[in-house]
Amino acid sequence: MPQPAPTLDVEAVLAQLTLEEKAALTLGSDFWHTAPVERLGVPAIMVADGPHGLRAQMNEADHVGLSGSVPATCFPTASALGSSWNPGLFRRVGDALGAEAAACGVSVVLGPGINMKRSPLCGRNFEYLSEDPYLAGELATAMVQGTQSRGIGTSLKHYAANNQEDDRLRVSAEVDERTLREIYLPAFERVVKQATPWTLMCAYNKVNGTYASEHHWLLTEVLRDGWGFDGLVMSDWGAVHDRVAALEAGLDLEMPPNLEQSAARVVAAVREGRLAESVLDLGVRRVLDLVNRVRPALEAGGEFDEQAHHDLARAAALESAVLLKNDDAALPLRPAAGATVAVLGEFARTPRYQGAGSSQVNPTRVDVIFDELAARLPEGVELTYAAGFGIGTTEGDAELQEAAVEAASAADHVLLYLGLPAAAESEGFDRTHLDLPANQLALLSALHRVGIRPIVVLANGSSVRLSTWEHQAAAILECWLSGQAAGSAAAELVLGLANPSGKLAETLPVRLEDCSSFLNFPGDSGVVRYGEGIFIGYRGYDRARQEVSYPFGFGLSYTTFTVGDLSVRTSGSVADDDLEVQATVTVANTGAVAGAEVVQVYVSDLESSVARPVRELKAFAKVHLEPGESKQVSLVLDARAFAYWSTRHHDWVVEAGDFQVAVGTSSRHLVARERIHLEAPSVAPPLTADSTLQEWVADDRGRQLLSRLDVPILHDPELVRVIGTMPMRTLASFSGLLFDHGTLDRLAADLEG
Ligand code: BGC
Repeated sequence: MPQPAPTLDVEAVLAQLTLEEKAALTLGSDFWHTAPVERLGVPAIMVADGPHGLRAQMNEADHVGLSGSVPATCFPTASALGSSWNPGLFRRVGDALGAEAAACGVSVVLGPGINMKRSPLCGRNFEYLSEDPYLAGELATAMVQGTQSRGIGTSLKHYAANNQEDDRLRVSAEVDERTLREIYLPAFERVVKQATPWTLMCAYNKVNGTYASEHHWLLTEVLRDGWGFDGLVMSDWGAVHDRVAALEAGLDLEMPPNLEQSAARVVAAVREGRLAESVLDLGVRRVLDLVNRVRPALEAGGEFDEQAHHDLARAAALESAVLLKNDDAALPLRPAAGATVAVLGEFARTPRYQGAGSSQVNPTRVDVIFDELAARLPEGVELTYAAGFGIGTTEGDAELQEAAVEAASAADHVLLYLGLPAAAESEGFDRTHLDLPANQLALLSALHRVGIRPIVVLANGSSVRLSTWEHQAAAILECWLSGQAAGSAAAELVLGLANPSGKLAETLPVRLEDCSSFLNFPGDSGVVRYGEGIFIGYRGYDRARQEVSYPFGFGLSYTTFTVGDLSVRTSGSVADDDLEVQATVTVANTGAVAGAEVVQVYVSDLESSVARPVRELKAFAKVHLEPGESKQVSLVLDARAFAYWSTRHHDWVVEAGDFQVAVGTSSRHLVARERIHLEAPSVAPPLTADSTLQEWVADDRGRQLLSRLDVPILHDPELVRVIGTMPMRTLASFSGLLFDHGTLDRLAADLEG
């Protein structure tokens, strides 16, 4: 029996390392490995992508999915999995990723990716979970917990404000502090605090002018000092520009290594006194700590059960599909014996199930829709097929289209498989529009002209525009890029062998122009201004009262649910930091088949001194119910659910006043709501001579002091309104108008007294 390798005594190793060895340890040794120090028994460990499956390259190396990798299970991509709204599922997928990594000798899985979907155009949206930080944070927490329960690390990425592919290695995301804190950082914060990921990957881009890899505020002040992150920070592949500045900012590991320059520069910086050796030591310690953390699992190794993981991939795909439309219960399809079902669309035989780039997995197998349908249809049902369009082109092909219309005309039921071809979306570039390729839309129109409204099943990683064609479809099932079992999952859903339960994790807009980031995406001249601030996704559509095609949180089912009997109970207080608001509802399955509903809790601040979203998701629960079954669900909100980030206090603040706690089955379908009042310490800044007259009048003490002055204007509310926005100091300068500077000084002194 081989003896397990001893745990490294980090301090003892550190004490024996030369400066050169230390510098080398904070760089990888090649594309996927950390550096070994053989004389001290420090092994190299391997990392590999990625969020929805392992891309372990044992021989080749690239970070854009060009070369092969060992076969691994391709689970649904993040936009699909995010639509499951099921943390339990994320945990199981995370666990499976951990098992596959251990079996392949991979110590850290580079994911999950939790950047916000600021624009539907981002080419990498298929790798991201949501437009909502709470949802993304909760789901990613479960995935990290799942993988790390196997003793394998994760790398939460890409930190931070990496929300586009255009110029991603250089662009500066110009984002204000509140927007960072409320939108772009909270998913990271939630996962760091709840799941303690062992590593985190910095983004390529700059944030407010500084590369994320050199951003001390992001990597040290917020991440470590603020949230208590104790793991290792690695760079995205090629994100380091100045190794010394990056070390100082808190970036421990450069990947892949710039072997020609980085170590030499670090050594020189230490020797010349430009970099404290203690800073380098911090990075070295974190690499050694990581080696210690992953070693037991790597030594245990193990195998994974390909069939079981394929089944899990199918279960995940089943939960990820969102039924958007279902006129006259067109779905599920229950063809009678003797019926003909026409299957149209190239995607039915050439499945699109994952995205291109660094997350591209070499699947253990791939289910093909047509075959999976054929295997599940009852005997006596005829299945016909016509491609209808090509996927290597957007040009129409009259012959293909005609054959498809003919097949559809001869059939009793028509299933049409549409989606984005691989060339339309990928890591590395953004889209320029939201439309399906013209040849696919042309086929839909051709069917429409002969009076056929097919059932449309979609495969796309980023969202597509439906508003121009959805009237031409009887039903729409959005399957996203749902992994290697997408084909069998889609067949089961279409035939009613499983019930869709996915909910949109992103809004589907009517038009791209309705999206709040439209005017500022993707920026130019090296800068992208996040001008819409906190109002991304549904926060923007709701605030601007935009019609949308399908709202955030939306998804139909083959059964029906009721959600009601809301009761909201408040205990503790904001002041004592123990506020708990508990919302309890009853969910019932009132239909004929088993299904799952997602109860969503949205909070609105009804009285606020700062601009706030109309409503924000603050809790959710996915509830599985048999027909006729009902369950009571309780969701708990803490003070953070009611808070905003105050740029005045540089902290989270709850303002006293009324809030609405609403429960719904989408962000625009709220079925019950209750108004609650919260007391909270005042957040108004103290009055000074620079406060406005209005602020003095609004303050009890200020009003009292002013009332002592014999100034008639001050007793005329209309006039006070007109001059009220002027600071007191300015008013004092208008000699003879209200009061002079001497009086103001006395007022200010009385105030302090
Ligand atoms: C991607 C990362 C990925 C890395 C390694 C980069 O291009 O942005 O998400 O983990 O490559 O493949």
